[in-house]
Amino acid sequence: MKRIPTQPGGGSFLIRKLIRQNLVYLIVILLLIVGFGISLYLGTRQVYEEEAQWRSQKTMAEISSGKTIISNYFSDLQRDLDFVLALPDLKSYFAKDFEPLKNSGVEKVLTGFLEGKQSYHMTVTNLSGAEMLKVESELKRPLSWPNNLSNREIHRELFEKAVALEKGQIALSSIYFATEKEGTNTRKRVLMTLALPLFDDRAVKIGVLFIDLDLINVFEILPNNQLFIHTNDGADIFFDKKVGSFNIKNLGYALTGNSGWYPVTELEMIHYSKVKIFADQPFIIAEYHQYPLLKVTLGKLIYLFGALFLLFLSLVVFSIFTNFSVLNKTINTQKAIVFSLATLAEGRDPETGKHLERSRDYAVILARQLSTHKRYKKVITRDFLDNLYYAATLHDIGKVAIPDAILLKNGKLTDIEFDEMKKHVLTGQNVLRETIEKYHLTESFLEMGMNICAYHHEKYNGKGYPDGLVGKEIPLEARVFALCDAYDAIRSKRSYKEGLSHLEAMNRIVADKNQHFDPDVVEAFLECEEKLLAIT
Ligand SMILES: [Fe+2]
Ligand SMILES: [Fe+2]
Repeated sequence: MKRIPTQPGGGSFLIRKLIRQNLVYLIVILLLIVGFGISLYLGTRQVYEEEAQWRSQKTMAEISSGKTIISNYFSDLQRDLDFVLALPDLKSYFAKDFEPLKNSGVEKVLTGFLEGKQSYHMTVTNLSGAEMLKVESELKRPLSWPNNLSNREIHRELFEKAVALEKGQIALSSIYFATEKEGTNTRKRVLMTLALPLFDDRAVKIGVLFIDLDLINVFEILPNNQLFIHTNDGADIFFDKKVGSFNIKNLGYALTGNSGWYPVTELEMIHYSKVKIFADQPFIIAEYHQYPLLKVTLGKLIYLFGALFLLFLSLVVFSIFTNFSVLNKTINTQKAIVFSLATLAEGRDPETGKHLERSRDYAVILARQLSTHKRYKKVITRDFLDNLYYAATLHDIGKVAIPDAILLKNGKLTDIEFDEMKKHVLTGQNVLRETIEKYHLTESFLEMGMNICAYHHEKYNGKGYPDGLVGKEIPLEARVFALCDAYDAIRSKRSYKEGLSHLEAMNRIVADKNQHFDPDVVEAFLECEEKLLAIT
């Protein structure tokens, strides 16, 4: 005997039920969460974008202002230098091939110039490179050079460049570093040397002037502490105005092109731009651009939000699970009691055998087949089938009240006995109704059980009992079950008759189409009769 699955999956049936009962509640919560998430995202994003744009513009403005300040510093330097070099004292000093007698006057002028620029050294050499004059600022700081190499090396290199220059041109060294010692304290110094050719009255080149610039002057006038200088050699120079000290790092950023930005982290980038001094572009001025903190906060908020959401979800799942187990137990108990009741009633009639299980399985198969018909698709749902499975077994519980003399009688019943027998439908209906009302039961399979109890002996043509309902007046579940009950009765052996074949049963059912049975149900039966046969 092949078994065709008719039993509903108890768990999934219950879960569907629970979800349906709480659907509105779940949807509202879900919509609120989604709505909150979207508004949080959009709202903060807009604020974030605006702040990010503002910060970006601010950084670029500071860089551009820093560039202007540096260019101005150097063009002022050049103008002052041109002025100083044109002074009569210096002119005649150069014209007389750096005549030593006049040194003191010249030295005074140049020292004055150095004081104004707060610079470090000024050296004059003749065309052979011999040092003719050395002027030091009174603010001169005692410096020590890395690897004991003084700036003499730098001077030597620059000398070659400078002697080849025309009037008004200036050669620049790279930026270089030295250490300043003041007692036990040491501080880093950042320097750069300028070299320019010197000319006498007749515009004849006679020597080279070197100026060792202390770049602290340049850093001090920068508008912002966050601006830093990236040298051609890859050093990154930061200056802390409060302490007045340099911090030299090698961050290794590839700042290419004339200007642009370089991503450092997800929240930080560097905006930068090359600086032009005289005709040269010796370094890059750069600044960290930080994205608004809002982005970080937002990220954290979203994690928090996600965690809360997960917590909420697990609470919901936990609550559904708890409800589910409690409900499952209750419903299983109800079903077990109902099935025991039905089995007890059936047990009084020893000839019916496994009638309850078979007719129930037929009913589910037949209803499932009928649900494939367009008109029944929306009526015969999965819930309908689940309910039918439990309700079908109740159909004859009313037989408990039928006296043994009638119920167990061998042979045909008299009319009076048959009238007595007919009462089982209303007895069953009443028992179920009273139970439902007394215990406020809401299980829809009990409701369906009541209908099947009451109407499984109604006929489509109105000649059935107890109410003589006609056609679709008979509840659908009762119309479906009536055929299954009859099919099993025809096939089963009774004390007064033999069991008939499947074909015979089919013929009888077809003959009773529109009479005993709903034509739609008969159609569905003919479509699935093989499945019914399979579980006989
Ligand atoms: Fe019955
Ligand atoms: Fe029956």
